[in-house]
Amino acid sequence: AATTRYEAESSPAVCSGTIDSDHGGYSGAGFCNGENKAGAYAQFTVNAAAAGTATLRIRFANGTSSARPADVTVNGSAGPSVSFEGTGSWDTWATKTVTVPVTAGANTVRLTPTGAAGLANLDCVDV
Ligand code: GCU
Repeated sequence: AATTRYEAESSPAVCSGTIDSDHGGYSGAGFCNGENKAGAYAQFTVNAAAAGTATLRIRFANGTSSARPADVTVNGSAGPSVSFEGTGSWDTWATKTVTVPVTAGANTVRLTPTGAAGLANLDCVDV
């Protein structure tokens, strides 16, 4: 099936922080700069044609030298943890791929950072 891109700045996505555009290379109109604290989150609503598994490609930038790990939940259920390590600069974007269980229709995917630094900057999720 064709890939659908879900932008962090486009409702119904939620960014517990600000939508910024001060670093280049993002897609769409900007990216989510989550608050620098554990528990801040970015949330995406992704559609699945059928129940099963979906591959999420999460585009991010981390201009620090420390990973910004986050837990991925789908519809409130625990999923994989993702490291979101440094990408070299805030203008350099990379992609993390995770496979998660989904139900048919809309699924709520939330990325919740586990460290005090919060999330990496999050651009979009391709499904
Ligand atoms: C810098 C950078 C932001 C980033 C922030 C952070 O302020 O400009 O885009 O989100 O660092 O450490 O999270």
